[in-house]
Amino acid sequence: MDHPVVDEPRIDERGDLMEKIVSLCKRRGFVFQSAEIYGGFRSTYDYGPLGVNMLRNVKDAWWRAMVQQRDDVVGIDAAILSPPRVWEASGHLQNFADPLVDCRSCHERWRADSIEGVCPNCGSEDLTTPRMFNLMFSTHAGPVADDSSIAYLRPETAQGMFINFANVVTTTRKKPPFGIAQIGKVFRNEITPQNFVFRTREFEVMEVEYFVPPAEAPTWFDYWLSERRRWFLDLGMPEEMIRVRHHEREELSHYSAATADLEFLFPWGWGELEGIANRTDYDLRAHASASGERLDYFDPQTNERYFPYVIEPALGATRSMMAFLIASYDEDEIGGEKRSVLRLDHRLAPYQVAVLPLSKKETLDDLAREVLRKLQPCFVCDYDTTQSIGKRYRRQDEVGTPWCVTVDFDSLEDRAVTVRDRDTTKQVRVPISGLLAELGSRARSGC
Ligand code: GAP
Repeated sequence: MDHPVVDEPRIDERGDLMEKIVSLCKRRGFVFQSAEIYGGFRSTYDYGPLGVNMLRNVKDAWWRAMVQQRDDVVGIDAAILSPPRVWEASGHLQNFADPLVDCRSCHERWRADSIEGVCPNCGSEDLTTPRMFNLMFSTHAGPVADDSSIAYLRPETAQGMFINFANVVTTTRKKPPFGIAQIGKVFRNEITPQNFVFRTREFEVMEVEYFVPPAEAPTWFDYWLSERRRWFLDLGMPEEMIRVRHHEREELSHYSAATADLEFLFPWGWGELEGIANRTDYDLRAHASASGERLDYFDPQTNERYFPYVIEPALGATRSMMAFLIASYDEDEIGGEKRSVLRLDHRLAPYQVAVLPLSKKETLDDLAREVLRKLQPCFVCDYDTTQSIGKRYRRQDEVGTPWCVTVDFDSLEDRAVTVRDRDTTKQVRVPISGLLAELGSRARSGC
């Protein structure tokens, strides 16, 4: 559960930045309000053609760093629907709750720890005493809707990794320190969803449960904190927009011995981007005791059994995509004309390359499509023929495409194209035969 920001000043040096981001997201097909044609469904969002590319890139970048490029982390994909016993054992049925108050004047409901005793809707101080409201969504599995068929939509992916701990150890022969990674949808009945996709009721998380010998837990906690910060910086997040905040004792979740957040400077102030928690052996012990199964680890070298401690780096995929959008948004002037540009790292941009035939005339189409087909196996490409070339460059800048490849009438003669860089707007002529190598070296990719 992330903590509401209550005491931060509104920091929005770039004026209406958030409005611009929300409008860009809708206008260019990143994020749409869900069920919009029916008036919208509060707090749920649909990802459009560009948003789905970018969200996928965020998840791929995470998976590459956390699983593919390590030999101590393996992935799983566990079920979203789960039986009550999982959440009884994990403590979520009892503890995964926020304090809820009603305003007696206007009857709005609020999360008590985010409003400081005054109804944000009508200003009344006549509020009910807070009562705990469980954030898990329940449903019924099967045709009979009674108490025996209750199932829950997972509010975190973590439990899927704990209940599969023995399966993973047996099938992979991994030994602590090692981790299990998962990306997936989770559901929380947030009392006050807000700030676009920052806090929604349905969202995607990326989590690692990293199992370690108990004595090593503090060292691995520090390791993951710095490793995760490095990941954001490597993907172009400015250093000054990220900070570390250690949780006070009374803020800790029911399972945590220590937690630190990586916070991002959102337009309304600092907010949680990722949590790194020392979950101790709480979850494995709880599930072992509730299920009667062995979930401790037998170390054949020392002949000892122990419950590993768990260090958990957990972040929202959707929330971090929004942070990358905010951090990369810029406005400048090119040739006296204002432009807005997303200075996204090429690994996150919805399109890496746009192939643009200078004219709509059919004479350029064959060659332009030949160039497109050459690039598509290695890069996510857009193919755009409408409007003037200047307007098309601006459109690609606005959605963060790092490179535009223009096919012109000279290309028919010299089999060369122009490559334009989004940030510098510098253009260079490149032979089509060397285009993959040129873009590959700009992308530092091994494709
Ligand atoms: N297993 C640990 C866990 O779930 P969390 O801090 O509750 O931790 C992880 O959630 C991350 O998910 C947060 O750091 C935040 O980035 C994101 N997140 C949390 N609640 C969210 C919500 N309602 N909407 C969007 N993202 C959310």
